[in-house]
Amino acid sequence: MCGVVGFVSKHGLAQKNVLRGLSCLEYRGYDSTGFACIDQQSRLHIQKVVGSLNNLIPALEAKSIDGTIAIGHTRWATHGMATLENAHPHTDCGQSLALIHNGIIENHQILRKQLQQQGHTFTSESDSEVIAHLAETFIQEQLRPSAILQKLSETLQGAYAYIILSQNFPNQLLIARNRSPLCLAIGKDGIFVASDPLAFPEQVDQMLFLPDKSYAVVTHNEYQIFDFVGNLLDVQLEKADKLVVVSGKGDYEHYMLKEIFEQKQAILRTLYEYKSGQTIQERLGLSTQAIKELEEITIVGCGTSFHAGLIGQFFLESIAQVATTVQLGSEFRHKTFLPRKKSVCIAISQSGQTADTLEAVELVKQHKVPVVALTNVAQSSLARESNGLLVTQAGPEIAVASTKAFSTQVATLYWLAHQIALVKGLIDNTSMLQVEQDLEAVASMLEANIAVHKDSIVADLDLYVSFKNYIFLGRHVTYPFALEAALKLKEISYIFSQAYSAGELKHGPLALVDATVPVILFSHPDESIYKKIVANAQEVKARKGFLIVFACQGQEELLELADKSFIMQTGPALLSPLAMTGVMQFFCYVLAKKMGRSIDKPRNLAKSVTVE
Ligand code: G6P
Repeated sequence: MCGVVGFVSKHGLAQKNVLRGLSCLEYRGYDSTGFACIDQQSRLHIQKVVGSLNNLIPALEAKSIDGTIAIGHTRWATHGMATLENAHPHTDCGQSLALIHNGIIENHQILRKQLQQQGHTFTSESDSEVIAHLAETFIQEQLRPSAILQKLSETLQGAYAYIILSQNFPNQLLIARNRSPLCLAIGKDGIFVASDPLAFPEQVDQMLFLPDKSYAVVTHNEYQIFDFVGNLLDVQLEKADKLVVVSGKGDYEHYMLKEIFEQKQAILRTLYEYKSGQTIQERLGLSTQAIKELEEITIVGCGTSFHAGLIGQFFLESIAQVATTVQLGSEFRHKTFLPRKKSVCIAISQSGQTADTLEAVELVKQHKVPVVALTNVAQSSLARESNGLLVTQAGPEIAVASTKAFSTQVATLYWLAHQIALVKGLIDNTSMLQVEQDLEAVASMLEANIAVHKDSIVADLDLYVSFKNYIFLGRHVTYPFALEAALKLKEISYIFSQAYSAGELKHGPLALVDATVPVILFSHPDESIYKKIVANAQEVKARKGFLIVFACQGQEELLELADKSFIMQTGPALLSPLAMTGVMQFFCYVLAKKMGRSIDKPRNLAKSVTVE
């Protein structure tokens, strides 16, 4: 799981373009970074470093290597540690080719053994290295580039998008994909190849996504794409999306902080997009009849997107009156999927690239259940695989920890539940207008709540960072919100944090509670739920737990029990998690900052997880 980029230029030097592309792909991992090019004298140069592009650039400057054809790789370690040996590009025994790969070669062990028996020497633990040695054997058989790619497709199992640069074909990139994404763009000075169109320069206006199970030979002005059977494919070029412009951090110290403060505008933009243009039927790819008759919704997602789905389940069941289940992408495949006849799947993914979610979607489609993508990237694999599309307008989210993608997903699901209710005649247009106004108001509350509480959070940071573990509790919609809060805190601060339904406290987690364990309790505006939450708060205090509450206005009893409290404006009860989102994220952010963590790029993580 990594990012690959390649460029074959007409006359210019390729390095600058490859490094610029790599800088846009670091969301796919940053354990190591590598570059390879063939220079004017047909010599192959490879430079790799442990860590991010920041380490590669000085290493390249020191050597001043460049050429008209080059490739670059950014790695998130799966097979083998984050070492120089395991960094891409990998090479063959003759050191005449460079290979970069995104994905996992499932039959790498058996291939490695066979190749070793044939005399090949491996220098890394990486599964990817087998591709380099296999390509070497096919080159030695004097095969043409397309025949080499064909043979590789017959031999390799698993997910892959790879690029091969070889001294034997110094003007061509050999590329292939199976499940992992790969796209190509035509530039003024040559042809670009990358895992994601984000890596293409702005001037590029025509691009294509390589179809699944295809390979291509690419020169500076031509490419031919074949399927795995060897048939030439006619793949239409499309207009490159110019909206994907990543602006800098501005005055903010980290992207995460900037993105926390962009949430209000992101929600408003998302709502604006939904209110204009297409009807809900067009967006979902479902007829009015099909929406009216919906018997079941299956939501799939991973990480933060899964948590947004869990919150959305409450909306879809209580407002749209449709039975809803929420599944982790990675678990879905191991379950028996028994969809009802009138069923739809909503696949949630900020990036639209998460392999586990894409894999779940493939399974759903095998059951002929329509899929609606809820994503932040309109051109993503998920968007293209789905029948319907809801695009959040969060703008590029750069920090690994998801913030504005989460809040726009939650806002979308709330809006969607009401749209389905509207089509079913459960609510009228006036109520729908009110819903949109409520969402706008809560977007403002999200921001206003941060302004109210940020100073007091910062003032108590010494205390907050002194705790070694955190327990998060919530009930009803604030329970999945507690799951999201625990994820946020652990991913950026590395403090162990775990969330439980507040009612489950007494069934085990209470054993962990004492004066050294802080419990963050998210309250709920609904009176009956609030009463139960107060009871849970009492249970914590009875065990001397350090109680931090996110309370709603007027919840005096809870405030009296709390050691620290943040009173929230919340709006409609179902939207209370959205209103609390900003303060919760800010709390996690400043804790991580105080601890000196690498906030935008936490250790061991990646923004987009493109392996299963
Ligand atoms: C990674 C990210 C998470 C994200 C998850 C799902 O683990 O670090 O922040 O929630 O992937 O990503 P997606 O793009 O599918 O929403």
